[in-house]
Amino acid sequence: MTPTSRNKRAYVETYGCQMNISDGELMEGVLERGGYEIVGTPEDADVVLVNTCAIREHAEKRVLGRVSQLNGLKRERPGLVIGVTGCMAQRLGETLLEQAPYVDLVMGPDGYRGLPEVLQRLEKGTSPGAPAAPRSTVGIVERPRKRGPQLAVLQLDVDENYQGLEQRRAEGPSAWVPIQRGCDHRCTYCIVPYVRGGEKNRDASEILTEVRLLAEQGVSEITLLGQTVNSYVWEDVGFPELLKGVARVDGIQRVRYTSPHPNDVTEALVEVMAEEEAVCEHLHLPAQAGNNRTLKRMLRRYTVESLLEKVDLLRSAVPGIALSTDIIVAFPGETDEEFRDTLQLMRTVRFDEAYTYKYSPREGTPATRLPAEHFVDSDEAQERLEELIDVSRAIQAEINRSEVGRVEGVLIEGAGRDEGQIRGRTRRNKVVVFDGTVDRVGQYTQTILERTTGATFAGSEVRAAAATPASV
Ligand code: SAH
Ligand code: SF4
Ligand code: F3S
Repeated sequence: MTPTSRNKRAYVETYGCQMNISDGELMEGVLERGGYEIVGTPEDADVVLVNTCAIREHAEKRVLGRVSQLNGLKRERPGLVIGVTGCMAQRLGETLLEQAPYVDLVMGPDGYRGLPEVLQRLEKGTSPGAPAAPRSTVGIVERPRKRGPQLAVLQLDVDENYQGLEQRRAEGPSAWVPIQRGCDHRCTYCIVPYVRGGEKNRDASEILTEVRLLAEQGVSEITLLGQTVNSYVWEDVGFPELLKGVARVDGIQRVRYTSPHPNDVTEALVEVMAEEEAVCEHLHLPAQAGNNRTLKRMLRRYTVESLLEKVDLLRSAVPGIALSTDIIVAFPGETDEEFRDTLQLMRTVRFDEAYTYKYSPREGTPATRLPAEHFVDSDEAQERLEELIDVSRAIQAEINRSEVGRVEGVLIEGAGRDEGQIRGRTRRNKVVVFDGTVDRVGQYTQTILERTTGATFAGSEVRAAAATPASV
């Protein structure tokens, strides 16, 4: 870096899934090692990176709005560098640079290692006599512009799994540990494989070393991350073995993983979940739909029957396990009757929580090539969504009401909404709010669940001696 009177300051704002949030932490780590100071607001920064999601159109629109808002800041401070990274950057690429000339950089999910160099190159600007047409060197495409070039770093790299790079994590008891990038599935609605490439796993021994280090630093809860996290394999270490290894690291009290693909929920995996005390009794198991024809056209590679078998397998190995899910309504061609099968699935499984989405066409994905007349009318889609939300919320409230009175161990995560309250999470992933002070973040305690709003609980702490013997 060129010597400056003070360190350059960078701000990273992340949208999207946990994997993307984890990438945001990775970028912060890379920038910090590259000599940048990480700051908490765009107003304080010399470089603003918006780390984006492309999963649904709505997510993209929101981010584009945010990026144009940042242009206001750039008008006040022309030296400000604006970069767009992540899945939407990968999807839109140079089109984004064309549409938003104030954006200086687009960078896809495999480019983060080179961030400091790329930013340095932006700082230097175009050398005199630079060619007028876009120029490409080692994966960096340069687009000439009046005030210095715009850069695009969009090469997907089958070898880039960010081995050896440390994330900059917020202090606290919980850490996300990415073990896999990309995805080898091709669910017909989904953009992820196109913007993140194929599945790439990390070295198992490196993952374990990282978890040990985190534990030494005071982290006690680990969430392993990947798009189909349980398909993880590294040499002779499969996901069940890795999960077991992580669960046995000294100091680690809770282990979670997300998102699993139902087909890779195996007997060996549920055995580890049942036997390892640290593995939490919660799983986010994306079902997507409850009708076989729809599942087939989504290319989910399972049937309702085989999904229900997985649910049984989990529930018999881990009694009382809480299950959450993702559902898409109005996939092209979904009939009302087929949608009713999804409602039926919800009633059969009784998920503790459901994340529900209206199908959003993603350019380039196979589902967009289905006949136009198959696309579900948007009012109809909205009705289905609302009906699904009603059903899933009612089930969630029933389940949670039946849990009032239980004593549960919680890990204190932060402040509650009201003054003097704190918020903790049970092993079964339920949020409990109770009286306390934020200096207790990171501690484990026992609470009695006293009331529920339907989704979350209000409770109070019980002294350990009064608690039923439950693990933290
Ligand atoms: N890898 C995970 C999910 C990643 S995307 C898995 O396989 O389950 C998170 C969720 O977004 C998906 O589970 C799906 O429910 C939803 N989703 C993905 N693409 C979508 C689209 N085109 N329209 C609406 N919802 C979508
Ligand atoms: Fe998308 Fe399917 Fe891969 Fe999940 S498994 S990321 S839904 S393609
Ligand atoms: Fe979005 Fe990319 Fe995650 S598209 S959901 S941020 S993998």
